[in-house]
Amino acid sequence: MTGLDGIVVAETRLSRIDGEAGQLIVKGKHLDELTTLSFEEVAELLWETRPNLGPARVEAYRRLPELPDQPLPALQAALATLNTNDPDLVAATVPVALAAWNRRGQKPLEPDPQAGHVEDFLRLFHGPAPSHQATKALTVYLATVAEHGLNASTFTARVVASTGAHASDVVLAALCALKGPLHGGAPGPVLDLLDSLSPDTVEVQLRERLKNRERLMGFGHRVYRTRDPRAEVLKQAVQSLGGSPRLALAARTEDVAHRLLAEHKPDRPLRTNVEFYTAILLEALGFPREAFTALFATGRVLGWLAHAQEQRATGRLLRPRAAYVGPEPSLHR
Ligand code: ACO
Repeated sequence: MTGLDGIVVAETRLSRIDGEAGQLIVKGKHLDELTTLSFEEVAELLWETRPNLGPARVEAYRRLPELPDQPLPALQAALATLNTNDPDLVAATVPVALAAWNRRGQKPLEPDPQAGHVEDFLRLFHGPAPSHQATKALTVYLATVAEHGLNASTFTARVVASTGAHASDVVLAALCALKGPLHGGAPGPVLDLLDSLSPDTVEVQLRERLKNRERLMGFGHRVYRTRDPRAEVLKQAVQSLGGSPRLALAARTEDVAHRLLAEHKPDRPLRTNVEFYTAILLEALGFPREAFTALFATGRVLGWLAHAQEQRATGRLLRPRAAYVGPEPSLHR
């Protein structure tokens, strides 16, 4: 019963995940079709209204507060005072605050309302205008992670939306669910893992980790029982950037990890998940690893807001029950 596996708590028109087949469908589109869309088109697909993110980025910039030193708290600080149901402003606040966080100590760059969302974000974050390939690769990443059913953060978003809270608070709450390592937090640790491995000793080192009951970051998934389809799309995005020096070691690590995990848990297929190649792609795009989870939020904010909209339309507060297994009151009172 614990873990809510297999429990249906909502109907959704947003996505279907087939964990056995390793397939993700978002609003009737396969991943390879979804990743041809611009960020704005993915938002329109999920929200069923055309976003106007350029002016929203400018407004988000205007409303930026003093930001804390860590990226997720920085996004949360920017959202905390918004008190808005405007999905454009909420979705725009995430990248604008993240870029401002990266330039802490300096004045953040001003958004260009005419630019594409992803192109403008890359410029706000890094400074120079991005290459077409970098914009395309990040667009693919953000589309790939935009929506993925009732994962921990999206479930959180729906619960908070069901209370009638503002869209900005829905996203603020969903961000909290990304703070642990088990959901959305693995790409940084994936790079730590790859840093610690050398090609000749991958097998010995991974065996040692499993013997110590450590989880191999970037492997396993609550729903997929095969390779996460998003992993392949992101691997191709790394290749489209001209590759990464890490790719060879990553491929070897995947092979060895699959073999060792199959020995370790023969009844539980544990395969590569989305976080593995996310780590390599985001690094190749020049992002610091501490920003990886916040980048995931830059894409997933579209799914959170779409689920919030769906949940609100039901008009129903989410309120499951817990089975009480605590002590009974004393009979002698
Ligand atoms: N390495 C080693 N063992 C693992 C791994 C792993 N990566 N994943 C699962 N296992 C083990 C578990 O310890 C568990 O063993 P136990 O029964 O002896 O305790 C067993 O396999 C069953 O695990 P599942 O039920 O399949 O795993 P669960 O659904 O609870 O967790 C999760 C899924 C959290 C993703 C897990 O596989 C994990 O911790 N992976 C590493 C972290 C990671 O990559 N997170 C990112 C996930 S993708 C995303 O969030 C977008």
